[in-house]
Amino acid sequence: MTNTISLLGLQWGDEGKGKIVDHLAKDLDAAIRYQGGHNAGHTLIVDGKKVVFHLLPSAICHKAIKCYLGRGVVVSLDALFEEIEEASDVIGNIEGRLVISSACSLIQPYHIKLDQLREKSNTITKIGTTGRGIGTAYEDRVGRRSVRVSDLYNPSKLSSKLEEALEYYNSIFKHSFGSTAIDKNKLFDENLIHAERLKPYVGNVINEVRDLQDSNKKILFEGAQGALLDVSLGTYPFVTSSNSSVGGIASGIGISPTDIDYSLGIAKAYTTRVGEGPFPTELFDDMGKYLAEKGGEVGATTGRPRRCGWLDTVLLSHTVRLNGIDGLCVTKIDVLDGLETIKICTDYSSNLSMEEILESMILEDVEPIYTEVAGWNEPTAGIQSFDQLNSNAQSFIKRIEEICNVPVIMISTGPKREDTIIRDYPL
Ligand code: IMP
Repeated sequence: MTNTISLLGLQWGDEGKGKIVDHLAKDLDAAIRYQGGHNAGHTLIVDGKKVVFHLLPSAICHKAIKCYLGRGVVVSLDALFEEIEEASDVIGNIEGRLVISSACSLIQPYHIKLDQLREKSNTITKIGTTGRGIGTAYEDRVGRRSVRVSDLYNPSKLSSKLEEALEYYNSIFKHSFGSTAIDKNKLFDENLIHAERLKPYVGNVINEVRDLQDSNKKILFEGAQGALLDVSLGTYPFVTSSNSSVGGIASGIGISPTDIDYSLGIAKAYTTRVGEGPFPTELFDDMGKYLAEKGGEVGATTGRPRRCGWLDTVLLSHTVRLNGIDGLCVTKIDVLDGLETIKICTDYSSNLSMEEILESMILEDVEPIYTEVAGWNEPTAGIQSFDQLNSNAQSFIKRIEEICNVPVIMISTGPKREDTIIRDYPL
């Protein structure tokens, strides 16, 4: 029986996870985020209104689902309150339905400022971050100096932590960037105001999740970003600063690694990436522009255009294996409608062996080797059963299954919830 399911994007994020969460929602009791912060972007249409969630689990718009932010999430309180307001406008009051771990590290304005100053600098490697202070907040977390949610309720501890932090950050702002200082008293007061407002949402995530597990409730572990952006397993240093992979779930929530019954992976029928970093199958020609335009490939968080390329099954089969994926969902197959041929990268040419490439994840010097498969003219858009897909589209899916050694259990054929083929429902 599947009670707990993880949902993870297997590429560089933006695989269309929000829509799949929406699909599973009717059967879920709880959804938990375990990493990242408001760098994520899930666009949802609720009662005809568009809402974009960055920090809240995208399942929040389903009234029967209780949502959690586990200890592995870095929380900007400004962003949180903005999103709570936005969510409340569309779905009503969410108090009582959202629980934030008292162990979450907070993103403070100095994290955001340093992230942005670094990205603008000419001497520091540009990662193309979302500029939201994610990496800098995680630096403090592993440096054991974060201000955590629980510190908000201990004013003297909060004061000394902010004092210590600002001594460090203000010195960097002044000496490394010639920038202005952040005022300690003002920041302290802001934190105290936030603390009051946050109180109803703070809770004990480990305990609550245990209770849910003990009563056999259906729980979703909602991944943000994607497997190739994992700080340990991704294309370092062009990654986010958390463990976005399935490996991050246990420590990011406080469950056992054996508590995950089913791992659902999401991959686009092609590949996209925002920000800097290697991308072996990236297309710089008209085909790249075509995919970007037809797929509406613009970042939901920053509005940046996404880089586009062919499906890379070298990387996909690697992330399938690394994350113990039980079933795969292929999204946006309809974007490939009308193409004469479709390329799938199945190997790399490089001076390094494949084992060396995947161990280091240094992809700058690899050349993709492609297999070409026949495209199709009959639209897949909106189709809801595998049998109705044209035979070339079926072969494309079967090819992915063979190469990646995983069943494709869902196929998304358009943006609407019902534009989905379900071959084997995971819950
Ligand atoms: P950061 O997470 O803001 O530090 O950005 C690090 C890298 O991860 C950048 O290349 C971002 O564009 C990328 N990134 C962060 N969040 C997302 C996401 O939700 N989707 C896609 N890319 C992301």
